[in-house]
Amino acid sequence: MQLLLLTTMHLLQLLLLTSAVATTSAAAGLYPSSHDHDDERALVAFKAKISGHSGVLDSWNQSTSYCSWEGVTCGRRHPWRVVALNLSSQGLAGTISPAIGNLTFLRLLNLSYNSLHGEIPASIGSLRRLQRLYLVQNTLTGVIPGNISRCISLREIRIQHNIGLQGSIPAEIGNMPSLSVLQLSNNSITGTIPSSLTNLSRLTMLSLAANYLEGSIPAGIGNNPYLGFLQLSHNNLSGRLPPSLFNLSSLYIFYAAFNQLHGHLPSDLGKSLPRIQQFGIAGNRFTGALPPSLTNLSRLQLLDLGANNFTGVVPAELGRLQQLEMFALEENILEANNEEEWEFIDSLVNCSRLKELGIGSNKFSGKLPGLLVNLSTNLQLLQIANTNISGAIPPDIGNLEGLEMLDFGENLLTGVIPESIGKLTRLLVLGLNSNYLSRHLPSSIGNLSSLLQLYAGGNSLEGPIPPTIGNLSKLLGLDLSYNNLTGLIPNQIMELPSITMFLDLSNNMLEGPLPSEVGSLVHLEQLFLSRNKLSGEIPDTIGNCRVMEILSMDGNSFQGNIPATFKNMASLTVLNLTDNKLDGSIPGNLATLTNLQELYLGHNNLSGTIPELLFNSTSLLRLDLSYNSLQGEVPKGGVFKNLTGLSNVSNNALKSKTAPKKDLPPQFAKVELPIVPYNDILKGTDGFSEANVLGKGRYGTVYKGTLENQAIVVAVKGQDFRALVFEFMANGSLDRWIHSNLEGQNRQGALSLSQRLDIAVDIVDALDYLHNGCQPLIIHCDLNPSNILLNQDMRARVGDFGIARVLDEATTNIL
Ligand SMILES: *[C@@H]1O[C@H](CO)[C@@H](O)[C@H](O)[C@H]1NC(C)=O
Ligand SMILES: *[C@@H]1O[C@H](CO)[C@@H](O)[C@H](O)[C@H]1NC(C)=O
Ligand SMILES: *[C@@H]1O[C@H](CO)[C@@H](O)[C@H](O)[C@H]1NC(C)=O
Ligand SMILES: *[C@@H]1O[C@H](CO)[C@@H](O)[C@H](O)[C@H]1NC(C)=O
Ligand SMILES: *[C@@H]1O[C@H](CO)[C@@H](O)[C@H](O)[C@H]1NC(C)=O
Ligand SMILES: *[C@@H]1O[C@H](CO)[C@@H](O)[C@H](O)[C@H]1NC(C)=O
Ligand SMILES: *[C@@H]1O[C@H](CO)[C@@H](O)[C@H](O)[C@H]1NC(C)=O
Ligand SMILES: *[C@@H]1O[C@H](CO)[C@@H](O)[C@H](O)[C@H]1NC(C)=O
Ligand SMILES: *[C@@H]1O[C@H](CO)[C@@H](O)[C@H](O)[C@H]1NC(C)=O
Ligand SMILES: *[C@@H]1O[C@H](CO)[C@@H](O)[C@H](O)[C@H]1NC(C)=O
Ligand SMILES: *[C@@H]1O[C@H](CO)[C@@H](O)[C@H](O)[C@H]1NC(C)=O
Ligand SMILES: *[C@@H]1O[C@H](CO)[C@@H](O)[C@H](O)[C@H]1NC(C)=O
Repeated sequence: MQLLLLTTMHLLQLLLLTSAVATTSAAAGLYPSSHDHDDERALVAFKAKISGHSGVLDSWNQSTSYCSWEGVTCGRRHPWRVVALNLSSQGLAGTISPAIGNLTFLRLLNLSYNSLHGEIPASIGSLRRLQRLYLVQNTLTGVIPGNISRCISLREIRIQHNIGLQGSIPAEIGNMPSLSVLQLSNNSITGTIPSSLTNLSRLTMLSLAANYLEGSIPAGIGNNPYLGFLQLSHNNLSGRLPPSLFNLSSLYIFYAAFNQLHGHLPSDLGKSLPRIQQFGIAGNRFTGALPPSLTNLSRLQLLDLGANNFTGVVPAELGRLQQLEMFALEENILEANNEEEWEFIDSLVNCSRLKELGIGSNKFSGKLPGLLVNLSTNLQLLQIANTNISGAIPPDIGNLEGLEMLDFGENLLTGVIPESIGKLTRLLVLGLNSNYLSRHLPSSIGNLSSLLQLYAGGNSLEGPIPPTIGNLSKLLGLDLSYNNLTGLIPNQIMELPSITMFLDLSNNMLEGPLPSEVGSLVHLEQLFLSRNKLSGEIPDTIGNCRVMEILSMDGNSFQGNIPATFKNMASLTVLNLTDNKLDGSIPGNLATLTNLQELYLGHNNLSGTIPELLFNSTSLLRLDLSYNSLQGEVPKGGVFKNLTGLSNVSNNALKSKTAPKKDLPPQFAKVELPIVPYNDILKGTDGFSEANVLGKGRYGTVYKGTLENQAIVVAVKGQDFRALVFEFMANGSLDRWIHSNLEGQNRQGALSLSQRLDIAVDIVDALDYLHNGCQPLIIHCDLNPSNILLNQDMRARVGDFGIARVLDEATTNIL
């Protein structure tokens, strides 16, 4: 019996044990402690603050226990305690409930890539077990709570890309013994980098890029023995790189680009930073030489020193950098004047991984090194623009077959564009503009089947445009302007379906008609054909270019009518047909172009009346109809109402309703006066403020104003939307210099004899011009000291033509 009893007890015990093992969670579920309910309540409270989600929180309901709710993980040792809340990329909106602080067993909180707004609750400080906090890319605002430093287990804080996150980095963060990752980039954090961060003895990654941090990089930064990744770019940091930085033997990535840092690079750079792979300090104010020792940084993959003020020559032994992939020195003051100083290019030939080489905008001169063509075939980007390099493009440039971008623009290159360029079939952008390249554009250019943009303007290219250019089926923009290209415009250009950005063939010697295929350029936004020798009629098909915004055909010999189909180019904002041989009348339907802001039709043979409709246009800001044979009256409405309208109308029989009620003599129209936008005047006179009133008269009020960023002081005579802008007469009227004023106040001061003489000569000059020099002649009728104005230099101007007489031809004869 005893045995049996024992056995039964034993069995029972065993059974109980087994079931306990098998149903741990169920058993615990039956008897959850009060804290467990806390976790469920906290989750429910968390959910209550979430306004939008992609269904993930629907599973958070009473049909299952909260430990199986989506994104919730409970512990193994504490089965009813939530240890992870992972709800990244779930479309969550709303705010983070302070109840999160009740999930005291939480080790991971990942709410990244949602649309959560509001602040990070300070209650987060209660999460003493939290190891990883991920709140990447939300729209959180407010400050980082200092309380976060109470999360003593935190290893990773990743709160980058919450643009509204402000305030400074809490200095308390420096007291977090476990912190290894602090990633706060792309926020709006201000203040300085707390020096306490240099106490984080486990820190491996610190990224504070793209904030508004100022002050200097903490001097003790080198105290963080494990710091490997330091990213401080795009802030307002100033001062020098702290010497201790160069003690960071674990540093493999360092960026501090686009700050206000200055100083030199240490000459023993090559001895420090033994692990460095990426070093980027572009866009600062660094000066001094590039230390030759940098060629000892054997793991270097990327060196970006662009947009600084580095001087001297480029170290010759760059070829030792076997891992080098990107090398950028653009926009410095570096030099290379002879073969020895150009050696670095020869040396770079050994860097077989080199993908990007940018050295443009420096003081390089001498001949373009021919060895360039032996650079790695992995090279994708080669930028040597805007230097004083001369010589020819090496004939074997086609060897660099990996190139996607080649920019030789703005140099002093001579010779031809090598035929081998056609081998660069991966090329996306080719810049050869503003050099002295001559001879023909090689027909092999048509082999560049990937090309998106081709810039060859501003050279001395001659001969015809090769028709093969029509093979560039991906081309978006083409600039061949300012060359000596001759012959016809090949139809093939017009058949490039992809060309959308611009086609610039202006300032060449192209002749013949504009091919009617121009109508195939249905996606083109800008077409420049100005100043060629094109002739014939403008094809009607041009109206098919429906998205055209700027069309310049001025300075050719186009003849015939302006096609009525222009009205189909609904996006047109600028149309320049000046200086052609167009005749016929102006199509009235041009006025239906509701985006047209600038219309230049001057110097043609246009006749008929100006379509009234044109002046009812609400978009036109500038209009030039000068030098045609137009007739009729210039309406007062539309473009003539606004100051910005350039009503440079001068036509033989054109009448104007505005005073003087006479034919506008051509002599007046020839004077090209600058047009000042109304807004500039508004700004310059503080909105025509009373404080700026210089005087009031019958024809409006005169204000003092400044133009072009305070550089020019002017007097503005204005009424409604019309205003005349005059030179500002700093010394007022002559009156004030020779008489006491009415209130008996003293005169301005005494005029010296030579000043009086100068003033008299200036007045006589002005009168001589009015009476003898200008056509028709003008009689001032009110010449007295109050109408003689003196400028800054005490030179006199005759003003106030309010009652002046303009005498016509007949009257002149009588005189
Ligand atoms: C969080 O915990 C506090 C203190 O234990 C309690 O008063 C509060 O009700 C809890 N909040 C939620 C939503 O559970
Ligand atoms: C409750 O959650 C379960 C999954 O846990 C889900 O299948 C069910 O549709 C949810 N109920 C509601 C009403 O959303
Ligand atoms: C959290 O969720 C994301 C996305 O579902 C996943 O990639 C990640 O591994 C999860 N983290 C953990 C610790 O389970
Ligand atoms: C957090 O979520 C992001 C996005 O899903 C994921 O890439 C990352 O691995 C997650 N981190 C952790 C620790 O779960
Ligand atoms: C800061 O964290 C502590 C817990 O460590 C908590 O008691 C306190 O309420 C928190 N402060 C705020 C403002 O929530
Ligand atoms: C972060 O900022 C950098 C620098 O301004 C920028 O290049 C990057 O695109 C930003 N990242 C995101 C995700 O906006
Ligand atoms: C670093 O920590 C030590 C010891 O806790 C402290 O005395 C010192 O002030 C801290 N340094 C900074 C810069 O916060
Ligand atoms: C470089 O030096 C010139 C002349 O001193 C200065 O005008 C310029 O702002 C400097 N550029 C940078 C990036 O510091
Ligand atoms: C174009 O050719 C003319 C005469 O052939 C020459 O005078 C002129 O300098 C050339 N222009 C350019 C940009 O090469
Ligand atoms: C229009 O063409 C004329 C004549 O070629 C030129 O002087 C003027 O600059 C052009 N205006 C614009 C806005 O293109
Ligand atoms: C132009 O506008 C005026 C009034 O603003 C109107 O009387 C006239 O009929 C309009 N002209 C045309 C051709 O629409
Ligand atoms: C005249 O200028 C005003 C103010 O800049 C502008 O709103 C209006 O459209 C312009 N009218 C014409 C016909 O250009």
